[in-house]
Amino acid sequence: MVLKLLILTKLVGLSSSACPSSKDQEIKGLCFTFMPYQLTYNASRNYCHHNNPVGFSNLAYVPDKETSNYLAVYAHSAFGSAAENFWIGLSRDPVSKSLSWDNGFPVTYTNFGSHVGKNYFSEKISNAKWDTLGDNDKSYFVCSYDPAVKSTTQSVTKTTTTPDSSNCQVGGPQTVLFAYSNDLNPFIVMDTLQRSSLDSQNVSFAISRFDLPQPEDIAYFTTYNQAMSYVSLHKPNVSLGFNDTTRGSNVLDVIDMFYNNTQTPCGSFVIVLSKRYPNTLDISNIVAKVRQRHGMVNFLASNTPSGGTQSRVLYDLSSQTNGVYAITRDTSFSSTIDYIPTRERYPIYAVTPRVSGEGSQILPPMTVLVHASYLLSLSIQSHVPTNNVKDVELYWRNPSSTNTGYFGMPVASWGFFDFNSDGTHANLAADVYNITINYDYTNSDVEVVQVRFYSSS
Ligand SMILES: *[C@@H]1O[C@H](CO)[C@@H](O)[C@H](O)[C@H]1NC(C)=O
Ligand SMILES: *[C@@H]1O[C@H](CO)[C@@H](O)[C@H](O)[C@H]1NC(C)=O
Ligand SMILES: *[C@@H]1O[C@H](CO)[C@@H](O)[C@H](O)[C@H]1NC(C)=O
Ligand SMILES: *[C@@H]1O[C@H](CO)[C@@H](O)[C@H](O)[C@H]1NC(C)=O
Ligand SMILES: *[C@@H]1O[C@H](CO)[C@@H](O)[C@H](O)[C@H]1NC(C)=O
Ligand SMILES: *[C@@H]1O[C@H](CO)[C@@H](O)[C@H](O)[C@H]1NC(C)=O
Repeated sequence: MVLKLLILTKLVGLSSSACPSSKDQEIKGLCFTFMPYQLTYNASRNYCHHNNPVGFSNLAYVPDKETSNYLAVYAHSAFGSAAENFWIGLSRDPVSKSLSWDNGFPVTYTNFGSHVGKNYFSEKISNAKWDTLGDNDKSYFVCSYDPAVKSTTQSVTKTTTTPDSSNCQVGGPQTVLFAYSNDLNPFIVMDTLQRSSLDSQNVSFAISRFDLPQPEDIAYFTTYNQAMSYVSLHKPNVSLGFNDTTRGSNVLDVIDMFYNNTQTPCGSFVIVLSKRYPNTLDISNIVAKVRQRHGMVNFLASNTPSGGTQSRVLYDLSSQTNGVYAITRDTSFSSTIDYIPTRERYPIYAVTPRVSGEGSQILPPMTVLVHASYLLSLSIQSHVPTNNVKDVELYWRNPSSTNTGYFGMPVASWGFFDFNSDGTHANLAADVYNITINYDYTNSDVEVVQVRFYSSS
């Protein structure tokens, strides 16, 4: 207690303005993200590396006593008075027994407590001491990064599918998984499938109704009509559902099962009609699996979710697999599916810039090989309402030719805020295009934008 009071008086004068996300805290030039979720050490480290909205970060680096003390105080307010500890980036190699920080810096300062026999270190909130917990123990955690190195307005994650590490060859037959939450209105599900262009695609179908306490097997069909009649016999049915807003969606299990199946051809893709969030945060395994199978995961997500806690995780899954996450009213699912890659479903350009406030970024250039009509999908942030967005504009232009185009979402002037995405068809000549995004958000949070162009072959 004495420690806390002492530190709180010293905190005055510290500012968090140097950090790109207003939710992060600066301590002596480093930024720290406090994650109020309990995960294992490895899952926490994966989150910091791959899922932190500000970009790549490490599990927290604690270089000195002052930082250790400040972290304990901030953690107390971020995680609540019941929280006991949080993971930091220090671990011991089980074989050589040497200590190392997740960011690779040398271990010069330590602040050990009395339980240091295991390999992964957590900091105790009551006294700022470092004790070990077990490999499978779960704890809150803190990520850290150097804001000077991670300039967020410039950072761009280009998500391309990883090169073949398996016998996965694209170009053969494809299967589409059409999966829908049991929490949705049955009419919405039927109508959305009917209004999609899937009936005219040369694909097989996998169908799954999820968010049921008794998971169903995925059903496989070779024709659209068979798939349609199966869905009409397996409409959402409230009396079979979770009946509970705290239950997390099991949609990630369905996606995992789909790509686990060795019968699922390479290049198969997923369209989810979602109503509920999962309660899990760790998607690194599933992202790796989708990429290895050259898959793509897309969501039509309800603006009025029926339960679950992790509102970001499905957005991140679509971002990391070149897909689209479109939030809208349930009654607009059947029109919004136009901007989900079903007919044009081969990404030629998938960039996920992080933006904040008002500004402009030059994105990587786009190469178009064939003159054709392409689907452009733009999602401007992971959440609604979008009343923090004035305008987002995307420009493509070849400086030495007349090939140029523009697509914008002037959200403030439209005046409705319960959707996050839009799309169009763009007729593009074969060329290399400079791509620029101009944006104007009224808040200073870091938002993740999905910029995608898809071709039909
Ligand atoms: C955690 O990750 C490390 C490095 O990838 C691995 O060696 C270790 O086996 C993992 N531990 C657990 C419990 O999964
Ligand atoms: C459908 O796809 C299969 C497998 O890629 C291919 O052999 C077949 O010719 C295609 N049919 C049409 C009508 O395009
Ligand atoms: C919903 O499920 C219940 C329980 O299995 C069943 O009795 C009922 O017929 C179902 N309703 C519809 C419309 O299918
Ligand atoms: C749903 O939960 C409520 C409250 O727990 C319970 O009274 C009701 O019987 C449940 N309904 C179903 C269909 O399980
Ligand atoms: C997918 O396969 C992995 C490894 O074989 C297994 O651990 C996992 O439970 C499977 N997932 C599902 C949903 O069946
Ligand atoms: C277009 O991109 C090229 C290469 O990135 C760059 O040299 C050029 O200045 C850009 N042109 C414009 C008008 O932005």
